[in-house]
Amino acid sequence: MSETSVDTSKRRFLVTLSSAVGGVAALGAATPFVISMTPSARARAAGAPVEVDLSKIEPGMQLAEEWRGKPVWIVYRTKEMLDLLARNDDKLIDPESKNAAQQPAYCQNPVRSIKPEYLVVVGICTHLGCSPTYRPELAPADLGADWTGGWFCPCHGSRFDLAARTYKGSPAPTNLYIPPHKYLSDTRLLIGEDQGAA
Ligand code: FES
Repeated sequence: MSETSVDTSKRRFLVTLSSAVGGVAALGAATPFVISMTPSARARAAGAPVEVDLSKIEPGMQLAEEWRGKPVWIVYRTKEMLDLLARNDDKLIDPESKNAAQQPAYCQNPVRSIKPEYLVVVGICTHLGCSPTYRPELAPADLGADWTGGWFCPCHGSRFDLAARTYKGSPAPTNLYIPPHKYLSDTRLLIGEDQGAA
């Protein structure tokens, strides 16, 4: 696992990236990818649910996992982060998540999640598929005084708030996609399966 510190005058956050994707990639460079896959890796590629230990995520952090070959981010939002979400509504394309294709019904709420503190979202830009960058800090110089934290897509400049909702004026036409998921306990999350069919 690698960690990168994001240190600003207002907040300090850690962005943690899972080593799983890099590990598989490094292995694939040495041997044919299919041969190198373990049974669990094959199950993942085929779409098996992915269990996540939430106890390793600190407030403000983003954890990256992989599900069905896609990055899935889990963000532990602080109360301060959640309080700022309501400020953005008039600047967003779909503040109420009315586009039902972008999240399960149980995440069609103002914070787009089951538990307000945890956002679970596929980390692929809905414009042309780049991976946006986590930018949780307040008002950084390059994103402006109104920035309250979220993601910025480096490819064509789409912006998303901390509920992964798209700002007006972004090339991305919709909010980021929330995958099916459920909680197995207070500290265990399952991505790819929910109470119904997933
Ligand atoms: S792919 Fe993200 S803005 Fe174009």
